[in-house]
Amino acid sequence: MAPAKVTIPELQARKGKQKFTMLTAYDVPIARLVDDAGIDVILVGDSLGAVMLGYPGTAPVTMDEMIHHAKAVGRTAKRALLVGDMPFMSYQADTAEAIRNAGRHIKEAGMDCVKLEGTAKQAPIARAIVDAGIAVIGHIGLTLQTAASLGGVTVQGGTAETARRILDDALAMEAAGCWAVLMEAVPADLGALITHRLKVPTIGIGAGPACDGQVLLTHEMLGLFPGLGLPWGKCYVDAGAVMSQAIRQYADDIHSGVFPGPENSFPMDEQLLRELDG
Ligand code: KIV
Repeated sequence: MAPAKVTIPELQARKGKQKFTMLTAYDVPIARLVDDAGIDVILVGDSLGAVMLGYPGTAPVTMDEMIHHAKAVGRTAKRALLVGDMPFMSYQADTAEAIRNAGRHIKEAGMDCVKLEGTAKQAPIARAIVDAGIAVIGHIGLTLQTAASLGGVTVQGGTAETARRILDDALAMEAAGCWAVLMEAVPADLGALITHRLKVPTIGIGAGPACDGQVLLTHEMLGLFPGLGLPWGKCYVDAGAVMSQAIRQYADDIHSGVFPGPENSFPMDEQLLRELDG
Protein backbone atom coordinates (compact mmCIF):
# COMPACT_ATOMS: atom_id res chain seq x y z
CA MET A 1 0.00 0.00 0.00
CA ALA A 2 1.29 3.49 -0.89
CA PRO A 3 2.26 5.57 2.16
CA ALA A 4 -0.13 8.40 3.11
CA LYS A 5 0.83 11.62 1.33
CA VAL A 6 2.04 14.51 3.52
CA THR A 7 -0.32 17.48 3.26
CA ILE A 8 -0.02 21.22 3.87
CA PRO A 9 -2.76 21.29 6.60
CA GLU A 10 -0.94 18.47 8.40
CA LEU A 11 2.37 20.40 8.37
CA GLN A 12 0.62 23.58 9.49
CA ALA A 13 -1.02 21.71 12.37
CA ARG A 14 2.43 20.56 13.50
CA LYS A 15 3.61 24.12 14.18
CA GLY A 16 4.92 24.38 17.74
CA LYS A 17 4.37 20.63 18.27
CA GLN A 18 6.49 18.56 15.92
CA LYS A 19 9.20 19.82 13.55
CA PHE A 20 9.19 18.76 9.93
CA THR A 21 11.98 17.79 7.57
CA MET A 22 12.75 18.98 4.05
CA LEU A 23 15.50 18.12 1.55
CA THR A 24 16.17 18.87 -2.11
CA ALA A 25 15.95 16.36 -4.96
CA TYR A 26 16.31 16.88 -8.69
CA ASP A 27 16.17 13.35 -10.10
CA VAL A 28 14.87 9.83 -9.58
CA PRO A 29 17.61 8.21 -7.41
CA ILE A 30 17.78 11.04 -4.86
CA ALA A 31 13.99 11.57 -4.80
CA ARG A 32 13.59 7.85 -4.08
CA LEU A 33 16.20 7.90 -1.28
CA VAL A 34 14.73 11.01 0.34
CA ASP A 35 11.11 9.85 0.05
CA ASP A 36 11.87 6.34 1.33
CA ALA A 37 13.69 7.86 4.33
CA GLY A 38 10.42 9.55 5.34
CA ILE A 39 11.47 13.16 4.75
CA ASP A 40 8.28 15.25 4.87
CA VAL A 41 8.92 17.76 2.07
CA ILE A 42 10.99 17.51 -1.12
CA LEU A 43 12.11 20.74 -2.77
CA VAL A 44 13.05 20.73 -6.43
CA GLY A 45 15.18 23.82 -5.85
CA ASP A 46 16.72 26.10 -8.43
CA SER A 47 19.99 25.12 -6.70
CA LEU A 48 19.90 22.45 -9.41
CA GLY A 49 21.49 25.12 -11.60
CA ALA A 50 24.81 24.68 -9.82
CA VAL A 51 24.41 21.10 -8.58
CA MET A 52 23.03 19.43 -11.73
CA LEU A 53 23.70 21.80 -14.62
CA GLY A 54 27.07 23.38 -13.84
CA TYR A 55 25.88 26.98 -13.86
CA PRO A 56 27.78 29.41 -11.63
CA GLY A 57 24.58 30.04 -9.62
CA THR A 58 20.79 29.97 -9.75
CA ALA A 59 20.10 33.01 -11.96
CA PRO A 60 20.53 31.25 -15.36
CA VAL A 61 18.05 28.44 -14.55
CA THR A 62 15.01 28.43 -16.85
CA MET A 63 11.44 27.36 -16.22
CA ASP A 64 11.84 24.50 -18.73
CA GLU A 65 14.90 23.21 -16.83
CA MET A 66 12.94 23.34 -13.57
CA ILE A 67 10.04 21.42 -15.10
CA HIS A 68 12.37 18.79 -16.62
CA HIS A 69 13.77 17.95 -13.16
CA ALA A 70 10.53 18.44 -11.26
CA LYS A 71 8.81 15.90 -13.54
CA ALA A 72 11.39 13.25 -12.59
CA VAL A 73 10.80 13.91 -8.88
CA GLY A 74 7.04 14.09 -9.36
CA ARG A 75 7.04 10.67 -11.03
CA THR A 76 9.08 9.17 -8.17
CA ALA A 77 8.13 10.46 -4.73
CA LYS A 78 5.03 8.90 -3.21
CA ARG A 79 4.80 10.33 0.32
CA ALA A 80 6.58 13.68 0.60
CA LEU A 81 4.92 17.01 -0.15
CA LEU A 82 6.54 18.28 -3.36
CA VAL A 83 7.68 21.89 -3.84
CA GLY A 84 8.67 23.31 -7.22
CA ASP A 85 10.98 26.32 -7.13
CA MET A 86 10.20 29.37 -9.30
CA PRO A 87 13.43 30.32 -11.11
CA PHE A 88 14.70 33.86 -11.59
CA MET A 89 12.48 35.93 -13.90
CA SER A 90 9.73 33.31 -14.08
CA TYR A 91 7.47 35.44 -11.86
CA GLN A 92 8.91 38.92 -11.35
CA ALA A 93 8.03 40.66 -14.63
CA ASP A 94 4.39 39.82 -15.13
CA THR A 95 1.71 38.47 -12.79
CA ALA A 96 -0.15 36.45 -15.46
CA GLU A 97 3.14 34.82 -16.48
CA ALA A 98 3.89 34.10 -12.80
CA ILE A 99 0.56 32.29 -12.42
CA ARG A 100 1.10 30.34 -15.66
CA ASN A 101 4.60 29.28 -14.62
CA ALA A 102 3.47 28.27 -11.13
CA GLY A 103 0.70 26.30 -12.83
CA ARG A 104 3.26 24.41 -14.95
CA HIS A 105 4.83 23.04 -11.74
CA ILE A 106 1.43 21.66 -10.72
CA LYS A 107 0.03 20.54 -14.10
CA GLU A 108 3.15 19.29 -15.89
CA ALA A 109 5.44 18.18 -13.06
CA GLY A 110 3.02 16.97 -10.37
CA MET A 111 4.29 19.37 -7.69
CA ASP A 112 2.01 20.15 -4.75
CA CYS A 113 3.03 23.78 -4.35
CA VAL A 114 5.67 26.32 -5.42
CA LYS A 115 8.31 28.44 -3.70
CA LEU A 116 9.36 31.92 -4.70
CA GLU A 117 12.13 34.17 -3.44
CA GLY A 118 11.40 37.76 -2.54
CA THR A 119 10.72 40.55 -0.11
CA ALA A 120 7.46 42.28 0.79
CA LYS A 121 7.62 43.72 -2.76
CA GLN A 122 6.97 40.25 -4.24
CA ALA A 123 4.11 39.52 -1.79
CA PRO A 124 1.44 40.69 -4.31
CA ILE A 125 2.77 38.13 -6.82
CA ALA A 126 2.58 35.42 -4.15
CA ARG A 127 -0.99 36.59 -3.45
CA ALA A 128 -1.95 36.31 -7.13
CA ILE A 129 -0.58 32.75 -7.35
CA VAL A 130 -2.38 31.77 -4.13
CA ASP A 131 -5.60 33.32 -5.46
CA ALA A 132 -5.21 31.18 -8.59
CA GLY A 133 -5.39 28.13 -6.31
CA ILE A 134 -1.70 27.29 -5.99
CA ALA A 135 -0.08 27.02 -2.56
CA VAL A 136 3.08 29.09 -2.14
CA ILE A 137 6.12 29.15 0.16
CA GLY A 138 7.70 32.62 0.46
CA HIS A 139 11.52 32.48 0.60
CA ILE A 140 13.08 35.45 2.44
CA GLY A 141 16.42 36.48 3.98
CA LEU A 142 19.28 35.41 1.72
CA THR A 143 17.79 34.96 -1.73
CA LEU A 144 20.48 33.61 -4.06
CA GLN A 145 18.75 34.74 -7.26
CA THR A 146 19.38 38.34 -6.21
CA ALA A 147 22.40 37.79 -3.95
CA ALA A 148 24.45 40.43 -5.77
CA SER A 149 22.09 43.17 -4.62
CA LEU A 150 22.20 41.78 -1.06
CA GLY A 151 25.98 42.05 -0.82
CA GLY A 152 26.79 38.46 -1.81
CA VAL A 153 26.20 35.08 -0.18
CA THR A 154 26.22 36.26 3.41
CA VAL A 155 24.02 36.29 6.52
CA GLN A 156 21.16 38.79 6.29
CA GLY A 157 19.47 40.76 9.08
CA GLY A 158 22.53 41.66 11.11
CA THR A 159 21.44 45.28 11.68
CA ALA A 160 18.26 46.67 13.25
CA GLU A 161 17.18 48.01 9.87
CA THR A 162 17.71 44.80 7.89
CA ALA A 163 16.31 42.60 10.68
CA ARG A 164 13.16 44.77 10.75
CA ARG A 165 12.88 44.51 6.96
CA ILE A 166 13.15 40.71 7.06
CA LEU A 167 10.46 40.55 9.77
CA ASP A 168 8.26 42.77 7.55
CA ASP A 169 8.99 40.47 4.56
CA ALA A 170 7.88 37.45 6.61
CA LEU A 171 4.68 39.16 7.73
CA ALA A 172 3.94 40.29 4.16
CA MET A 173 4.41 36.77 2.78
CA GLU A 174 2.09 35.40 5.48
CA ALA A 175 -0.49 38.11 4.78
CA ALA A 176 -0.25 37.24 1.06
CA GLY A 177 -1.50 33.74 1.90
CA CYS A 178 1.80 31.80 1.79
CA TRP A 179 1.32 28.52 3.63
CA ALA A 180 4.90 28.67 4.97
CA VAL A 181 7.85 31.06 5.01
CA LEU A 182 11.37 29.80 4.31
CA MET A 183 14.19 31.84 5.85
CA GLU A 184 17.75 31.50 4.61
CA ALA A 185 20.85 32.75 6.42
CA VAL A 186 19.43 34.96 9.15
CA PRO A 187 20.58 35.12 12.80
CA ALA A 188 19.08 32.35 14.95
CA ASP A 189 17.38 34.86 17.26
CA LEU A 190 15.68 36.55 14.31
CA GLY A 191 14.61 33.10 13.04
CA ALA A 192 13.09 32.39 16.47
CA LEU A 193 11.36 35.78 16.67
CA ILE A 194 9.80 35.38 13.21
CA THR A 195 8.78 31.79 14.00
CA HIS A 196 6.93 33.04 17.09
CA ARG A 197 5.34 35.97 15.25
CA LEU A 198 3.98 33.95 12.31
CA LYS A 199 0.94 31.69 12.45
CA VAL A 200 2.19 29.72 9.44
CA PRO A 201 5.22 27.39 9.74
CA THR A 202 8.74 28.66 9.15
CA ILE A 203 11.38 26.58 7.41
CA GLY A 204 15.01 27.38 8.12
CA ILE A 205 18.30 26.98 6.32
CA GLY A 206 20.88 28.76 8.39
CA ALA A 207 18.07 30.36 10.41
CA GLY A 208 18.56 28.59 13.76
CA PRO A 209 16.89 25.71 15.58
CA ALA A 210 13.58 27.42 16.45
CA CYS A 211 12.16 27.15 12.91
CA ASP A 212 9.22 24.77 12.46
CA GLY A 213 11.03 22.88 9.71
CA GLN A 214 14.61 22.62 8.44
CA VAL A 215 15.88 22.21 4.88
CA LEU A 216 19.30 21.27 3.46
CA LEU A 217 20.65 20.55 0.01
CA THR A 218 20.78 16.76 -0.23
CA HIS A 219 23.86 16.73 -2.46
CA GLU A 220 25.73 18.81 0.09
CA MET A 221 24.64 16.80 3.15
CA LEU A 222 25.64 13.58 1.38
CA GLY A 223 29.04 14.95 0.38
CA LEU A 224 28.18 14.79 -3.33
CA PHE A 225 28.63 18.51 -3.97
CA PRO A 226 31.20 19.85 -1.52
CA GLY A 227 31.86 22.96 -3.66
CA LEU A 228 28.95 24.94 -2.22
CA GLY A 229 30.74 25.48 1.10
CA LEU A 230 27.83 27.35 2.72
CA PRO A 231 28.54 27.63 6.47
CA TRP A 232 24.92 26.79 7.29
CA GLY A 233 25.11 23.43 5.48
CA LYS A 234 26.14 20.16 7.15
CA CYS A 235 27.78 17.12 5.58
CA TYR A 236 26.48 13.90 7.18
CA VAL A 237 28.43 11.44 5.05
CA ASP A 238 31.18 11.67 2.44
CA ALA A 239 29.29 9.59 -0.11
CA GLY A 240 31.36 11.28 -2.82
CA ALA A 241 34.51 9.63 -1.42
CA VAL A 242 32.79 6.21 -1.31
CA MET A 243 31.63 6.60 -4.93
CA SER A 244 35.02 7.83 -6.09
CA GLN A 245 36.70 4.81 -4.46
CA ALA A 246 34.24 2.46 -6.22
CA ILE A 247 34.95 4.07 -9.61
CA ARG A 248 38.72 3.70 -9.11
CA GLN A 249 38.25 0.07 -8.04
CA TYR A 250 36.28 -0.61 -11.24
CA ALA A 251 39.11 0.79 -13.36
CA ASP A 252 41.72 -1.23 -11.40
CA ASP A 253 39.64 -4.41 -11.81
CA ILE A 254 39.52 -3.96 -15.59
CA HIS A 255 43.27 -3.42 -15.80
CA SER A 256 44.01 -6.42 -13.55
CA GLY A 257 41.45 -8.71 -15.26
CA VAL A 258 39.27 -9.14 -12.15
CA PHE A 259 36.26 -7.64 -13.96
CA PRO A 260 34.34 -9.02 -15.74
CA GLY A 261 34.64 -12.32 -13.82
CA PRO A 262 32.85 -15.62 -14.53
CA GLU A 263 29.76 -14.35 -12.70
CA ASN A 264 29.50 -11.42 -15.14
CA SER A 265 30.10 -13.49 -18.30
CA PHE A 266 27.87 -15.84 -20.30
CA PRO A 267 29.08 -19.37 -21.16
CA MET A 268 28.60 -20.71 -24.70
CA ASP A 269 27.56 -24.17 -25.80
CA GLU A 270 30.88 -26.11 -26.17
CA GLN A 271 29.82 -27.95 -29.34
CA LEU A 272 28.85 -24.64 -30.99
CA LEU A 273 32.15 -23.12 -29.93
CA ARG A 274 34.13 -26.05 -31.42
CA GLU A 275 32.22 -25.66 -34.72
CA LEU A 276 32.89 -21.95 -34.87
CA ASP A 277 36.53 -22.44 -33.97
CA GLY A 278 37.05 -25.33 -36.39
O1 KIV B 1 17.06 26.16 -4.44
C1 KIV B 1 17.19 25.65 -3.32
O2 KIV B 1 17.66 24.52 -3.15
C2 KIV B 1 16.75 26.44 -2.18
C3 KIV B 1 17.25 26.04 -0.83
C4 KIV B 1 18.53 26.74 -0.53
C5 KIV B 1 16.23 26.28 0.22
O3 KIV B 1 16.08 27.42 -2.35
